[in-house]
Amino acid sequence: MEYKNLGRSGLKVSRLSLGSWVTFGNQIGDDVAEQLMVKAYDAGVNFFDNAEVYANGKSEEVMGSILKKMGWSRDTFVVSSKVFWGGKLPNQYGLSRKHVTEACHAALKRLQVDYLDLFFCHRADIETPLEETVFAMNDLIRQGKILYWGTSEWDAQRITEAIGIAKENHLVPPVMEQPQYNMFHRDRFELEYRNLYKNFGYGTTIWSPLASGMLTGKYNHGLPADTRAHLPELTWLKERFSGPEGEEMVRKVQALQQIADELGTSLPKLAIAWCLKNPNVSTVILGASKVYQLEENLAALEVVEQLNEELMQRIETILNNRPKFPVYG
Ligand SMILES: NC(=O)c1ccc[n+]([C@@H]2O[C@H](COP(=O)([O-])OP(=O)(O)OC[C@H]3O[C@@H](n4cnc5c(N)ncnc54)[C@H](OP(=O)(O)O)[C@@H]3O)[C@@H](O)[C@H]2O)c1
Repeated sequence: MEYKNLGRSGLKVSRLSLGSWVTFGNQIGDDVAEQLMVKAYDAGVNFFDNAEVYANGKSEEVMGSILKKMGWSRDTFVVSSKVFWGGKLPNQYGLSRKHVTEACHAALKRLQVDYLDLFFCHRADIETPLEETVFAMNDLIRQGKILYWGTSEWDAQRITEAIGIAKENHLVPPVMEQPQYNMFHRDRFELEYRNLYKNFGYGTTIWSPLASGMLTGKYNHGLPADTRAHLPELTWLKERFSGPEGEEMVRKVQALQQIADELGTSLPKLAIAWCLKNPNVSTVILGASKVYQLEENLAALEVVEQLNEELMQRIETILNNRPKFPVYG
């Protein structure tokens, strides 16, 4: 495993990490969740990602039980939660001081830890003044309940404002973002956020590196059974994969398969290595519903150095979605 500072922070995260969305407390049994965490930890993964909304809190309960059972020393892993979607009642969602505080307390309980290493605002809350959220996060840090805070899928302008508010008030600023980033989803990460990396050294923990499995090639001939595309809560994914957008993605995936074959590697490894190649990626959060998937994905680091300029250019030609940088600015 390789490790990298999370942006300009002093925290070291493994280049590959493990997330629990869709899977823990939902698609997979707790025994498989345990096998996945042990496999990851033994391979040097030190960051496990979670959120209050994942399986309505059950994902954190499952992860907490495994952390407790394994008895791993607290200084050998980094665990996160995210606040935003805690429930449907007025103060059970969003980024008010009340919900941020209560969500943190609830996550600590479910994960059975004394503090969260990373606490993300899972989305921006336009109904709460930004100052209130920044002060609430700072309070949690002062209280020792979280160590670092960050954002997920916020626009660059709002992140910049949050950092500004923190600086003006001598508070701890957010240091990391959790955005989607993969071969099919690039604009925000590569274009919109470019000044966040340059000006603030913003770190990133990127999600869906395989575009929910599309970049494994498993959807090249329809929607196979035993995949997330068949889960009742992900009908939007099924529709996306079986519609015109899915067909277009499959055409590109088939072309990418040729490159993977030439390299003697697999498509998932190539797609994850492509993400790792971007220097602004601090860690790639892997998702897996089977142990063999995680085993395969954990080997992606080996492929990174095979990706030379010429290959990256060939991939660029296949993807044909390079973000268009403005001429000025
Ligand atoms: N902040 C946010 O808003 C946000 C949003 C989404 C995710 N996330 C985080 O990012 C993590 C990863 O996201 P993700 O699960 O969408 O990642 P992903 O890598 O795009 O998709 C993972 C899924 O692809 C399939 N797969 C993985 N490896 C495979 C392989 N080698 N061969 C065949 N199939 C394979 C599995 O699904 P099947 O069960 O279908 O086989 C697996 O669960 C999440 O767990 C979560 O922690 C954050």
